[in-house]
Amino acid sequence: MAYSFQITSPDAYKLAYEKSVMDPQGFWADIAQNFFWRKKWDKVLEWNFKEPRIEWFRGGKLNITENCLDRHLGTIGNKPAFIWEPNDDETDARILSYRNLHFKVMQFANVLKNNGVRKGDRVIIYMGMVPELAIAVLACARIGAIHSVVFGGFSAQSIADRLHDSQAAYIITQDGSLRGNKTVPLKDIIDDALVQCPFVRKCIVLTQARIPVSMIKGRDVWWEDEIKKVESQGNPDCPAEEMDAEDPLFILYTSGSTGKPKGVVHTVGGYMVYTAYSFVNVFQYRPEDIHFCTADIGWITGHSYIIYGPLLAGATSLIFAGIPTYPDAGRLWDVVAKHKVSILYTAPTAIRSLMGYGEAPFEGKDLSSLRVLGTVGEPINEEAWHWYKKHAGADKLPVVDTWWQTETGGVLISNLAGITPEKPGYATLPLPGVQPVLMDENGKELEGNDVSGNLCIKFPWPGMLRTTYGDHERCRTTYFSTYDNLYFTGDGAYRDENGMYRITGRVDDVLNVSGHRIGTAEVENAINMHHGVVESAVVGYPHEVKGQGIYAYIVLENPDDTHLSEQDIMKTVTRLIGAIARPDKLQFVPDLPKTRSGKIMRRILRKIAEGETANLGDTTTLLNPEVVEQIITGRL
Ligand code: WT7
Repeated sequence: MAYSFQITSPDAYKLAYEKSVMDPQGFWADIAQNFFWRKKWDKVLEWNFKEPRIEWFRGGKLNITENCLDRHLGTIGNKPAFIWEPNDDETDARILSYRNLHFKVMQFANVLKNNGVRKGDRVIIYMGMVPELAIAVLACARIGAIHSVVFGGFSAQSIADRLHDSQAAYIITQDGSLRGNKTVPLKDIIDDALVQCPFVRKCIVLTQARIPVSMIKGRDVWWEDEIKKVESQGNPDCPAEEMDAEDPLFILYTSGSTGKPKGVVHTVGGYMVYTAYSFVNVFQYRPEDIHFCTADIGWITGHSYIIYGPLLAGATSLIFAGIPTYPDAGRLWDVVAKHKVSILYTAPTAIRSLMGYGEAPFEGKDLSSLRVLGTVGEPINEEAWHWYKKHAGADKLPVVDTWWQTETGGVLISNLAGITPEKPGYATLPLPGVQPVLMDENGKELEGNDVSGNLCIKFPWPGMLRTTYGDHERCRTTYFSTYDNLYFTGDGAYRDENGMYRITGRVDDVLNVSGHRIGTAEVENAINMHHGVVESAVVGYPHEVKGQGIYAYIVLENPDDTHLSEQDIMKTVTRLIGAIARPDKLQFVPDLPKTRSGKIMRRILRKIAEGETANLGDTTTLLNPEVVEQIITGRL
């Protein structure tokens, strides 16, 4: 299907942008009309950033799965909704048509109902990249249960934290997932988490890796058995639950600058309108496209641009279970050639890591199906941008550099493929409906061009977060209290002489490691939990492939303790958060540089980690200036 809101020329972009600022409500109402609402909204927008209170399409009734699935059956029922490419290149790919997917979603929605899941219940999904993960997500949405997908790389402790925070009584997982040459024992990890979570009533387990798992009677059930039960009940139908536009659709946990990850909440109506709008426009979607987003569904990118955005547009979306370097570094190009991928959306980290393998992996691969390239997740250096454009794009395909966040639901700043201009290293211009501003440290807006500041957004857009689960005050303080009446992104940005934005990176204590968001405080808490550690400070440093690496400075109780090895501390971090949070460098230091009031001077530690030891600024006000020299001497 084609949406009338697709922007097809630079002038149309300008017009749409102007309308979206002059008359935001009219602008979004026109777009929202393209969807199926059981009942139309009473009011397009109600908002204030003080509380914050953000309501889009209030009074509207709908179910997002009717828009993703049912609505398409009459026209594109036989079109592939998902193509699944497995981890290895020998297992057959699987294709799920819209009709097929609709059937399977209803079937599994009935499984959820049989197991007691009701509207508003939270369901934690901990799976690998199998089609059943998307089916589980959509089945939750079908019955109005709130899904919270946890990335398969997180530890048992992280899952337990999320179970507690969301008070989720239901889990969907699988025995083990296959990734590269590893099998991740997902059910085992869930079992470790469940020791702390007696409130969990049901755990539904899909078989994939066929590894042995423990199944507790009454609590754990097999996906396949439950499907059989539904089949024997005879009625394959599962009518969609009628949802209010502002009912929560999902929670996705993400790291911040303090403490535990927070549960970002997205709601049904606004998220639907925004993901579809941004998908169609950024990638300039065409009905014949094969869209391949390499992200994991455990992150927002997978939610918005593997599942919801593409399905809302009636697109064919490719789910890839593997990794770019398995069985070799040509795998992405094999997948592109095999499935005639036309849109490839990946992360700068993946590009940089493939750059290391040179041109050989491209040999003999037919990439002529590609039409649009995209990147997301971190700033892309110009070298990687050019390499991507040259090797994947034959130096002619448009590259979209899409800036957004878990909290924004969809892309906010990006060029529109082939329509608005691109510029290496720049996310370029805001989408219609998005009003970015740059602020200085004193709360003053930086007007005009050729300025750098903290990136904020001054007007709501339908895809924005509504709250952080169970703690609205945290949502307010994190995003809406730094600057009056603005949403603060946590990113710094430069606006060039033409008004184009370049995102320079986080200005808070959040790291971006291989496109994964990790809070320094979270890593410090984990390190500090380790026996014999007095305190620690974690900072980021530039890393050639990962974008940022994790540098940990650690003070030990007894520096001669032979039982304390780097590996032990790494293990603690892996247990408490997951392997993605393991420091790349661990330096044991006698003390941390502190101000007289006892505050750790991170600025100095960051500079040392970056190798800028000559330029540390004034250290005389430190309580312990002598440690700085010692830290520099021991630098890794
Ligand atoms: C942070 C959000 C949005 C999906 C993946 C990450 C950084 C994201 C870009 C980009 C420069 C980017 C920002 C942002 N980021 N896209 N195109 N250029 N930086 O989602 O985990 O919520 O992380 O990723 O720092 O704040 P996330």
